[in-house]
Amino acid sequence: MPYDFDKTIDRRKTNSDKWDEMEGYYGVSPKDGLAMWTADMDFASPPAVNATLMKLAEHGVHGYHGDQTAYLASIRHWMAARHDWQVQPEWILSTHGVVHAVGAALQAYTEPGDGVITFTPVYHAFHRMIDANGRRGIQSEMQLVDGRYHMDLEALADQMDGSERMVILCSPHNPGGRVWTPEELRDLADFCITYDLILVSDEIHQDLVFPGHTHTVMPNAAPHAMDRTIMLNAPSKTFNIAGSKNAQAIIPDPVLRAKMQGVLKASGTGLNRISAMMTTAAYAYGVDWLEALIAYLDSNRRMFDDRVNALPGLRSIPLEATYLAWVDFSGTGMSVEEFTRRIEQDARIAANHGPTFGKGGEMFMRFNFGTSRATLSDALERIEHAFSDLQ
Ligand SMILES: Cc1ncc(COP(=O)(O)O)c(C=O)c1O
Repeated sequence: MPYDFDKTIDRRKTNSDKWDEMEGYYGVSPKDGLAMWTADMDFASPPAVNATLMKLAEHGVHGYHGDQTAYLASIRHWMAARHDWQVQPEWILSTHGVVHAVGAALQAYTEPGDGVITFTPVYHAFHRMIDANGRRGIQSEMQLVDGRYHMDLEALADQMDGSERMVILCSPHNPGGRVWTPEELRDLADFCITYDLILVSDEIHQDLVFPGHTHTVMPNAAPHAMDRTIMLNAPSKTFNIAGSKNAQAIIPDPVLRAKMQGVLKASGTGLNRISAMMTTAAYAYGVDWLEALIAYLDSNRRMFDDRVNALPGLRSIPLEATYLAWVDFSGTGMSVEEFTRRIEQDARIAANHGPTFGKGGEMFMRFNFGTSRATLSDALERIEHAFSDLQ
């Protein structure tokens, strides 16, 4: 294989959030523990990205970025080639990450106290941003049927009180790994039209989709809802460049776009030259690396599921996308404290706690398997050992 995902790269003491902050959050020391929480991978980024960084370092001058032509062209190329979506350059607004864009969208389209809907369990930063902006989080718990999550729009309609202004969708979904079908996306867009809601679609995981599933960008699924749709995306999960903090809000509707532009301008948002060049290199030259990565992650996913599902009472939800395994411990009959203690203190693994993902996440933990097979195998042995009394 031209890309060596098998190579275990030591990330300790590299200012890595995932490895260097794990002890503070989970009481698991990086000295003998494994980091399986924060959503970045332990792999080197595509060679084209690292070559760009080398070139920048060789030149040695790191001033402001100018001329966005190549950067915008790379994003448009990617959306057209991978997602069958023709994007106009003026639709693209750059942000300092997707979470920054979520905050800007909340400020652009809602007022303090307005209701903002999420489908839980869901990526925890949505709730953090809703709270930090003084909006009211409304958690619509998804239904888990035969290992697949579904949005329950009927139950949501009953739950609403008329103060809701926005829906934030995670597409594909983190955690649980659903790739929403065009029908599901259309139903949600129709729901937003009926109840006059802005639809923010966070598609940061759009490229990490396993064989047999196809991601549909919201603008293709529901072109009739473009006057209320904000599509958020980034190359950061796809190419493992999350530290570069570059993302895009892509907004075809000029009125919606002007509002978002106003908020971004008011907070001094700009384009980081180094990350813009990383994005450009990744989208222009990273496709072969991505195909190889997906094949590797698919094998990791199978290995993780086979071994975790062999433990009585543990159930890893079948993922259609992402490298974030979502494991249900409810079948063990243990308390949350007990299974968490076993993962952290017995297995010495730092994994995300399910309750932080909102309603429906209480009995789960999330494990990041974006790592070398040797590290994953080590993690699985530790989990097997920590739950060996169940066998
Ligand atoms: C659904 C989702 N959105 C956004 C982010 C973070 O995006 P950023 O680092 O660009 O703010 C993550 C990271 O895990 C995520 O899973």
